[in-house]
Amino acid sequence: MSTAARISVEGTGRHFVQDADDTVLRAALRGGVGIPYECNSGGCGSCRIQVVDGDVVDLWPDAPGRSERDRRKGLVLACQTRASSDATIRVRTSDEYCGTVAPVRQPARVITIDAVTHDMRRLVVRTEGPARFEPGQYLSLFVPGLAAPRCYSMANLANDDGDWELIVRRVPGGRATTAVFEALTVGDTVEVDGPYGLATLRPGVDRDLVCVAGGSGLAPMLSIARGAQAAGLLDRHRLHFFYGARTPADVCGGSELEQLGGFGTSVLFHPVVSTPADVHGQPWDGATGFVHETACAALADRLSDVEWYCAGPPPMTQALQQVLVVDHLVPVGQVHYDRFF
Ligand SMILES: Cc1cc2nc3c(=O)[nH]c(=O)nc-3n(C[C@H](O)[C@H](O)[C@H](O)COP(=O)(O)OP(=O)(O)OC[C@H]3O[C@@H](n4cnc5c(N)ncnc54)[C@H](O)[C@@H]3O)c2cc1C
Ligand code: FES
Repeated sequence: MSTAARISVEGTGRHFVQDADDTVLRAALRGGVGIPYECNSGGCGSCRIQVVDGDVVDLWPDAPGRSERDRRKGLVLACQTRASSDATIRVRTSDEYCGTVAPVRQPARVITIDAVTHDMRRLVVRTEGPARFEPGQYLSLFVPGLAAPRCYSMANLANDDGDWELIVRRVPGGRATTAVFEALTVGDTVEVDGPYGLATLRPGVDRDLVCVAGGSGLAPMLSIARGAQAAGLLDRHRLHFFYGARTPADVCGGSELEQLGGFGTSVLFHPVVSTPADVHGQPWDGATGFVHETACAALADRLSDVEWYCAGPPPMTQALQQVLVVDHLVPVGQVHYDRFF
């Protein structure tokens, strides 16, 4: 089917339209129907739905977010499912999954590519219209030549220039990141689709903030920090920014945070290195270990008094969740995270 499909949500009277090249999840969010989700890339399993009626295509049959149990129960991932006819799905929807900005797929021109570290690049793409998103959100980048898009978080804030600033970490052998590092150049056109993501800045929360970033998790945490400053939160609260790097040569983020007012007083940067013996020969006399452990140890007497934001590799975000929510009973609503599957 090359035309749009009409998808109804069983028992709700709600429906939305999915274009022939879209997914059920993205189309639902565009249409204001909140299907639960997190990663939009087949990793987390949050977007499970039951297809009651109609034909669908499984875009990634081996997606790690779909368990054996899901398969036995006939559940599919909405982010990896494309309806090929009108369809009816069963899922518990909620408006909380629809952000303040409906996602849009649109062309964008690459305007900047520069180095952040030896294996991380800042990539700025510009859309014709304004860049609308909340601090902490991400977009899907359609890299030319790749069938499936990849998610990258914005490091900047919403702006009328249409600039979406991304920080891409090279994954050895990774298809999208190899293309970004070796093929993409300034002036190229890509497609972006967004914004997505629920781990956004809570500007109305009157508490100190803690950002915990691992590797490329730097991008959304910078956006949260910048958003906190723009919202005036840093006039009356502290921001503790923990950055976890593998080696000293991987440490970054300090120069961006220095540009926020109050660096060293209300904005406190804590880089942590897990492998201090640097293969790149850089000495290190700062904190060592796992970033989530350093952050929790530093704030041990006030874990529940702060608002937590976290992004990066799933083992890091899951370990932080475990310490905060399970071991120390920090309210789950105070911990906002994106796992980079
Ligand atoms: C919410 C979120 C935000 C992220 N933000 C950032 C960021 O700011 N910076 C950053 O560097 N990275 C980020 N990532 C990771 C990024 O999306 C890529 O996974 C990473 O860059 C590796 O991509 P690759 O193509 O180079 O590696 P590959 O190993 O080639 O691909 C890995 C990823 O591609 C997807 N994938 C693989 N095969 C398929 C398939 N058949 N169908 C559909 N999808 C497939 C999966 O998501 C998988 O994790 C984020 C991930 C998520 C989920
Ligand atoms: S949102 Fe579909 S698997 Fe994560």
